[in-house]
Amino acid sequence: MSSRLSGFYRLGLAERRRRVLEACGLTEPRFTAIDPGALPLDVADGMIENVIGTYALPFAVAVNFCVDGADALVPMAIEEPSVVAAASNAARMTRPTGFTTRASAPVMIGQIQVVQIDDVDRGAAAIVEAKDSLLDDARRLVPRLAERGGGPVGLDVRVLARSGADGGMLVVHLHVDCRDAMGANLVNTLCEALADRVARIAGGEPGLRILSNLTDGRTITVRCRVEDAALAGDGTGAEVRAAVASASRFAELDPYRAATHNKGIMNGVDAVLVAAGQDWRAVEAGAHAYAARTGVYRPLAVWREREAGLEGELVMPLAVGTVGGALHNHPSARLALELANVDHADRLAALAGAAGLATNLAALRALATEGIQRGHMALHARGLARAAGATGDLVDRVAAELSACGDVKADRAREVLARLKESP
Ligand code: MEV
Repeated sequence: MSSRLSGFYRLGLAERRRRVLEACGLTEPRFTAIDPGALPLDVADGMIENVIGTYALPFAVAVNFCVDGADALVPMAIEEPSVVAAASNAARMTRPTGFTTRASAPVMIGQIQVVQIDDVDRGAAAIVEAKDSLLDDARRLVPRLAERGGGPVGLDVRVLARSGADGGMLVVHLHVDCRDAMGANLVNTLCEALADRVARIAGGEPGLRILSNLTDGRTITVRCRVEDAALAGDGTGAEVRAAVASASRFAELDPYRAATHNKGIMNGVDAVLVAAGQDWRAVEAGAHAYAARTGVYRPLAVWREREAGLEGELVMPLAVGTVGGALHNHPSARLALELANVDHADRLAALAGAAGLATNLAALRALATEGIQRGHMALHARGLARAAGATGDLVDRVAAELSACGDVKADRAREVLARLKESP
């Protein structure tokens, strides 16, 4: 399967669907899962409370991605124009080497807080003493996960306060390998089950029992290289390379810029997570906590100049699952995994991470050269042309005229379309 679908964005929607079905070896009826109304009301009603309808977003695939030697169409659901185009363009620049990734073991952290401890140091020492027995207890609670090679793999303790309104406080971290599950339910269940015993051993009262979204034990590292010639076809590649590296350094030196830099990464990451039915708020919380883990908020991805090219590296926590969660119920999320040929959580994290590094590259390249507004306005013009009723090549012609006169507005799009229809 090749994800290199040249000119894909120029095709009509029906032709795009045909090409994707062909590339993925699926048949048209599978696409009912992303047709309007794909999520039945009774299913939606079972997912959350007080349901009165469903909410749709555009569902797209980013093309040109090659991740760990395998091409993939990357599913994205997002309201913001430019993100899918940016990801596809940047992915094209990274070919032929593509993105390489490394996922850590899928280890999540569960926190058991213990309060009202008279002697926290003695309490912490007692937990360390009981570590093996506590881990045995935890393992007995999840025998099926252990059969799949996962389960509780570690336990440690941190003293948080020696005194205070709620007495001495410590927290026990239970490290759980969740395999292909995101693992929130699993980890929370284990924490609740162990809390009373943990508190007794520490000599205090149990407090909160909940996973941590700072999943720094479950990270993805994504790398790519872009040649100067791919950065700019007009011979200015070396200048663009230097400008992107300087933009990266700006983010490394300034938290105000780092926040926006990371937003550009999350454009790609979140779009994949939303399409694949993942808890993107959990990943957002983890990403930003990780970015600030040294006490200074820093970029999740950096770019360095290398011989005649750029190298980018993204490292971030990415807790996702290919079993459980919304995937039980949501037809579009299940189709997203099928389109991307994802059958385990590491691959989903790799694709989401690659999408994030791609949107970051596209944003820095645009910002460091012509600015992002030209590209945004061109896409906006195409959207207005379509909304005015243009189809086929009229979309491009109306959009081109709107961009040329700089008046990218809905009423002007209708005027231009009417004129072009009258005298084609
Ligand atoms: C807009 O959605 C994202 C950017 O602001 C990211 C960036 O500034 O790097 C373009």
